[in-house]
Amino acid sequence: MIPMQARIIGTGSYLPKRVLTNQDLEKMVETSDEWIVSRTGMKERRIASETEFTSDMGLEAALRAIASAGIKPEEIDLILVATLTPDYVFPSTACLLQAKLKAVNAAALDIQAACSGYIYALSLAKALIESKTYRNILIVASEKLSSIVNYKDRNTCVLFGDGASACVVSASGKGLLIRDVCLGSDGEVAELLILPAGGSRKPADQETVAEKLHYIQMDGKEVFKHAVRRMEMASKLCLERAGLAEDQIKWLIPHQANMRIIEAIAKRFGVPMERVYLTIHKYGNTSASTVGIALDELLNEHKFSTGDNVLLTAFGAGFTWGASVLTCCKEWGNDE
Ligand code: ACO
Repeated sequence: MIPMQARIIGTGSYLPKRVLTNQDLEKMVETSDEWIVSRTGMKERRIASETEFTSDMGLEAALRAIASAGIKPEEIDLILVATLTPDYVFPSTACLLQAKLKAVNAAALDIQAACSGYIYALSLAKALIESKTYRNILIVASEKLSSIVNYKDRNTCVLFGDGASACVVSASGKGLLIRDVCLGSDGEVAELLILPAGGSRKPADQETVAEKLHYIQMDGKEVFKHAVRRMEMASKLCLERAGLAEDQIKWLIPHQANMRIIEAIAKRFGVPMERVYLTIHKYGNTSASTVGIALDELLNEHKFSTGDNVLLTAFGAGFTWGASVLTCCKEWGNDE
């Protein structure tokens, strides 16, 4: 008997309407469009409104993924939300979404793996589907990074944006097989990318607010080096485990944190830039939701045929990293 393989049967994404351009940032901090474009590849990013939160953006992406999967909310067995900007420390954003969706038969939990969250969630969903624990799992990755960015710090404020992505992972149906997922972590260097206050170690008080410890802090140069090395390593391992050569990748979707990181990875894999799917210029780095937004847009814009392979890879705070190979198992619906 052929073992059952988990597959993505529907995707969705949501980006808030407000656009924050490099020109807007030039008025806020000492920076320039030229610096931001040449050092990062970013031109614009989206910013959620004051009344739009992580669970609201997640809901929009989830509804689109559920509609594209053709299932009903009550058929969802588990909701996994990947985020580092939950609505609250607790209860989980996954529980808030369970209520908004009226997913009355679903268990719900959040995953905190920073920018690698979507790929971490894919790994869990794959295992839980293939062990026959659940039949339909909703993954939502949603971030309101504008709530933890210091718009007076030019080192970080140009890099991040808000947005959400979602997918439904199921035991059957047409879509993208989750061929393999490889994950890793290294907490030894946790402090290179951190939000220092607001947790049990440094609960928020007047001092932490005055010292701006509730905003993202990052040693960009160090993070850059780890990001390239780790994404390359995870991707190589994942391809090896899936039994695929580098030239069998139809599309590469790397985490969209810096264009120079993306180019370095594409080069190491010999994937031409035409086959690297990019959203960095218009959305910047939306942390956990990034690769999911790119996957959703890629599937909407391009035709897919049986056997086409997509390689996802991401890297983020923790450090955490991961890669996943997805293979089109039957026509996605846009393959004539
Ligand atoms: N505008 C103008 N100048 C700036 C800006 C800016 N927005 N930001 C920094 N600079 C200056 C610095 O102050 C520095 O000036 P100095 O030489 O006088 O000190 C100079 O530019 C160079 O700064 P670097 O930090 O060396 O710039 P670098 O080329 O490394 O680019 C960047 C910085 C874009 C942050 C890059 O290091 C990077 O992308 N790092 C990786 C990010 C990443 O992968 N994050 C992981 C995921 S995020 C998550 O998990 C939440």
